[in-house]
Amino acid sequence: MKKDIQEAVDYLKKIGFDAPEIGIVLGTGLGKFVDEIDKEAFASYNQIPNFPTATVEFHQGKLIYGTFEGKKVVVMQGRFHLYEGYSTYDVTFPIRVMHELGITKLLVSNAAGAINKGYKKGEMMLIDDHINLQGGSPLAFKGVEEMGERFVDMSQPYDATMNKKIEDIAERNNINIQKGVYASVMGPQLETRAEYRYLGIIGADAVGMSTVPEIIVANHLNLPVAAVSVITDECDPDNLQPVNIQEIIKIAGKAEPDMILLFKELIKEL
Ligand code: HPA
Repeated sequence: MKKDIQEAVDYLKKIGFDAPEIGIVLGTGLGKFVDEIDKEAFASYNQIPNFPTATVEFHQGKLIYGTFEGKKVVVMQGRFHLYEGYSTYDVTFPIRVMHELGITKLLVSNAAGAINKGYKKGEMMLIDDHINLQGGSPLAFKGVEEMGERFVDMSQPYDATMNKKIEDIAERNNINIQKGVYASVMGPQLETRAEYRYLGIIGADAVGMSTVPEIIVANHLNLPVAAVSVITDECDPDNLQPVNIQEIIKIAGKAEPDMILLFKELIKEL
């Protein structure tokens, strides 16, 4: 694994990914963020040695390097999901590569469905904690202890300092942001009414199909991480509307300016 990571890092350094400070993962419908970056280099995922290759068509599948608010950033435009058939190792490989490139902070975004009945479409939720329902761990492989602690502590998986800054920024800019628990499921099928009911009972505020493996690996690497969900649909089991993936992408796109503002102000302060 170390060799695979090093090969990817060597390639990226060679094409100009010199010294990123902050890594950013852009979720479904949140790709426009890259327009704001002063780009210096980029690579399609399928050009990078040992990277999994992008499959979901609405993800553009690129790693971008550049300057944003005076900081060097590396941005994943599109991520890998378990539901595409990738392993937990595959979906988190880019996190390990960005870390080896030198990032010291990680920001993650995603689209999620609301379980909490107080949440509305188009709002954001700062992830305060999570529940892993994906049936696997990105740390369950032979040799994990060569890369870090096996029994990684998860008592505070999301960086308290960055979370506080995000809340303050939202308040200063009149952006309504919820704070809650994200449950990750494997997908790709959406949840049944009984599953939504169950998610509410166990304490989830939002549900999605990503992020948690990335957070676990960031914790494995002692890499401070913050994550924000855009609430794209309301999953009320007593009044469940059929979900429409195009609608999810559209709502995520509408919330995108707020998400960009939040990340922009946060990056200024890091
Ligand atoms: N489940 C329900 N709604 C969603 C999801 C999900 O995984 N992702 C975005 N909206």
